[in-house]
Amino acid sequence: MTAVRALWYTPGVLHVIDQRALPGRRRVRHLRTPEAVARAIRTLTVRGAPCIGVAGAYGMALASRTRGRTRAASARLLLATRPTAHDLSVGVEVVRRAWVAGEETETAAEQYCARVVEECRQIGEAGARLFAHTPRVLTHCNAGALATVQWGTALAPLRVAHDRGASLFVWVDETRPLLQGSRLTAWELAEEGIPHAVIVDNAAGHFMRTGAVDAVIVGADRIARNGDVANKIGTYEKAVVARENGIPFYVAAPWSTFDPKRANGSTIPIEERDPEEVRGRVGPAHMPSSSAARNPAFDVTPARYVTAFITPAGVVPPRRLAAWLRTHLP
Ligand code: MRU
Repeated sequence: MTAVRALWYTPGVLHVIDQRALPGRRRVRHLRTPEAVARAIRTLTVRGAPCIGVAGAYGMALASRTRGRTRAASARLLLATRPTAHDLSVGVEVVRRAWVAGEETETAAEQYCARVVEECRQIGEAGARLFAHTPRVLTHCNAGALATVQWGTALAPLRVAHDRGASLFVWVDETRPLLQGSRLTAWELAEEGIPHAVIVDNAAGHFMRTGAVDAVIVGADRIARNGDVANKIGTYEKAVVARENGIPFYVAAPWSTFDPKRANGSTIPIEERDPEEVRGRVGPAHMPSSSAARNPAFDVTPARYVTAFITPAGVVPPRRLAAWLRTHLP
């Protein structure tokens, strides 16, 4: 069970845990304007695809409270922050439509948030049985409560399995350059007493090849109709190495992450972030100042490497995904 909640709303204010400060400090930011929400998303104060979708929904609700804001400009401001996560456009659009219809936008955002939380709870239920007999699980980045408001996607089935007595052990990829694994996933697991160890990203292949990993589970930022998955940079490598070693590779996501209009992953926009994140802004420099750096934040894993998707409605292999989405997508 998780007590962590990444954000909450009181009239006119979106309160978010500042994820840049974890695990050292638990600091809360109070966002009162769509500009403040956009800045929080861009700087990864709030992060993780489902969570930024919810933040985007509240950003639109805050915009609607202020005279002079237009729907189109507010949506553009929020959508320009991070291009890869499909959830952001879903959250913004839900509240934009409520605004157009003259409905209560804060209620629309609250309902959207509740829907995401409930879907993540369902993912936990749907996926828990997969981990009853696969005790050693590797995960990449942070797809926990911090990334989804509550529960998580990749971490939800692990939470439920742990609550039900499964003896789990989680390998946590550190996740360079911003360390969402070691800072955030390890923090969430430690809070709940789930045994784990942090490894450098380059060690994942070693542990998979030497038989120390029974399954891999990750979240996603966008999943195309054919099952191609955009997720944190490095996910593709983990999927390929898992396949090479006969290890199941699961992707857990709420409905807002699925992009059924996109046939495959080749056109998913990949966010490229500031190279300074690679250079290392604090402590000793990571590299000569004259060297260039590149910083793609996500990569695309072809569907053929995915064993199954864990969705709110159950577990589905990639070959059945398109039909599954036609039946279940809200
Ligand atoms: O750059 P981030 O930290 O927002 O990246 C997050 C991820 O890649 C997560 O794995 C993804 O959003 C799924 S979160 C349930």
